[in-house]
Amino acid sequence: MSKTIKPYKLDTSKKDQVKEMFNKISKRYDILNHTLSLGMDHIWRKKAIKMITNNPKEILDIATGTADFALSAAKYTNAKITGIDIAENMINIGNKKIKKRKLNKRIKLSIADSENLPFNDLSFDAITAGFGVRNFENLEKGLYEIYRVTKKNGMVVILEPSIPNKFPLKQLFSLYFNHILPFIGRIVSNDTNAYTYLPNSVKEFPNGNKFTTILEKIGFKRTKYFPLSYGIVSLYVAIK
Ligand SMILES: C[S@@+](CC[C@H](N)C(=O)[O-])C[C@H]1O[C@@H](n2cnc3c(N)ncnc32)[C@H](O)[C@@H]1O
Repeated sequence: MSKTIKPYKLDTSKKDQVKEMFNKISKRYDILNHTLSLGMDHIWRKKAIKMITNNPKEILDIATGTADFALSAAKYTNAKITGIDIAENMINIGNKKIKKRKLNKRIKLSIADSENLPFNDLSFDAITAGFGVRNFENLEKGLYEIYRVTKKNGMVVILEPSIPNKFPLKQLFSLYFNHILPFIGRIVSNDTNAYTYLPNSVKEFPNGNKFTTILEKIGFKRTKYFPLSYGIVSLYVAIK
């Protein structure tokens, strides 16, 4: 059992702290995301969407944040997309981006908790979750909810940061992830904890085979994972 990593040293729940943190950093989230990933985040989302091969009509984007995964799904599929997130400020920024691209009819965002989804069983052909599941208070509960709302044979794609395991990238990445990224993040986001929480939560996350084993325990089949960009991100694919 991995230990619970929370953003702040407070007694409140992880969910409340995660919500507070993303509400706080929402205005700087996109710029930091693109800068700290060296512009790779769009490429990772595109790769994930391209794995969805069942021609979905309805996609649910879990932990949609500022809607970049939902926007990517709109670009590369013909589906209608529903995005949900617990952080209202992230959703507000997402809605502005959707409006600017005149995609209001195709993408709808709302505030909801991935661990208690307000949708009927078997509602979606595909689910996307970008850099979100690591933040769940209860990982298995959140994944089970994803499973519940996915249609039979529906596809799930999940992106999460991971730690490369080969020399010298492992050492270089460790320097970047543990020192440079928190330093830049702290200055730009104005939140002392957010970009320390990021590496700490990634270290604790059940990566690779450990995560596909959890997906299978939930009920998913044909689970696979693909290390992207030398393993700094992992793409998980599963079928219900
Ligand atoms: C790192 S951001 C990712 C945003 C977006 N998916 C992306 O690809 O950039 C993580 C998001 O997960 C959301 N989140 C965390 N726990 C959640 C939960 N239980 N239900 C819904 N959203 C959650 C946070 O509010 C935050 O907006």
